[in-house]
Amino acid sequence: MELKITKTQNPKTKPTGALGFGKYFSDHIFTMEYSGGEWKNAQIKPYEPFMLDPSCSVLHYAQGVFEGAKAFKNAKGEVLTFRLKDNVDRMLDSADRVCIPAFDKAFVLDAIEQIILIDQDWIPSGEGTALYLRPTIIATEPALGVRAADRYLLYCILSPVGAYYSGGLKPVRLYVEQKYVRAAVGGTGGHKVIGNYAASLKAGENAKKLGYDQVMWLDAFKHRYVEEVGAMNIFFICGGKALTPALSGSILPGITRRSIIQLLRDMGIEVEETAVDIVKMAAAAKSGELTEVFGTGTAAVISPVGGFCYKGKDYVVGGGAMGKVSEALYAQLTGIQNGRIEDKYGWVKKLGAI
Ligand code: PLP
Ligand code: COI
Repeated sequence: MELKITKTQNPKTKPTGALGFGKYFSDHIFTMEYSGGEWKNAQIKPYEPFMLDPSCSVLHYAQGVFEGAKAFKNAKGEVLTFRLKDNVDRMLDSADRVCIPAFDKAFVLDAIEQIILIDQDWIPSGEGTALYLRPTIIATEPALGVRAADRYLLYCILSPVGAYYSGGLKPVRLYVEQKYVRAAVGGTGGHKVIGNYAASLKAGENAKKLGYDQVMWLDAFKHRYVEEVGAMNIFFICGGKALTPALSGSILPGITRRSIIQLLRDMGIEVEETAVDIVKMAAAAKSGELTEVFGTGTAAVISPVGGFCYKGKDYVVGGGAMGKVSEALYAQLTGIQNGRIEDKYGWVKKLGAI
């Protein structure tokens, strides 16, 4: 398939102040359509709103998936992506979970790399900034029957971003959710399916009303084993070891999670992917054995946790400050991502000049 490229004649003014997260979008969009049993019409074109029929499936039944990845520039101004191929692989898995037809992974990866290069002037250079990539697929068939659609739109938009949380690396306080669950084994929690996020909003709002920043999700059956936090995976440094919930089926297999497991092991810290019991973690916070907790994700990178509320009681972690392990991991990961630290893992890809 050919990728048609039409460059904008009216480049937008780039933002100058604080970027925040996902507020600004670059000059171009990559789109590709599915109909008649095949993906076609791949193009990179000026960013613009698109028209959707009000009856289209994604708007009613949430048949859609998305990804989140980042591109950076190194000190020489070369364009780097971080594990982008893994995101494209995961998007294909997510698509399969909600009956979206498979696409050519190599073609989509190449198209995303091309749009990054075209919009490379949008890659911000400040500390903690990146060009956030948001590949998405939505069902566009105008039809109200509950079944897999026969038309789809795959697109990728790019957004220059700063820190995901307005507090940056300031430790967040979590509310351990007792009533609502994010996902259950057998559901869609292990995939990046759009409906998962609407389902998480109520608990997030409740946590904020109670004065907490984010939700710590527990398992759907016993309400006892930690799953994730907000839109991140979670790690506990307890008794000198790192514990992270095992991928049970209802947890998103985070690419940052996978990277952090590797970095921890290379720092000489033992990592256990296991069932993490919130009752034990609360006791360990009290005894001081739990020294650090942090979330991991593409958008947030590393988000230190200063404490959590479980069953009405507040537990402080690491004196409420960012811990040494979290700090070292943040420096290591962001250093690899923006080319300051050598990437011995093959996670970073330098994109060719156009
Ligand atoms: N968990 C959820 C629910 C997420 O949305 C994300 C973000 O993508 C993550 C975890 C972290 O995944 P990754 O590290 O691949 O960004
Ligand atoms: C990411 O970390 O890329 C996410 O998708 C999290 C959130 C912005 C949905």
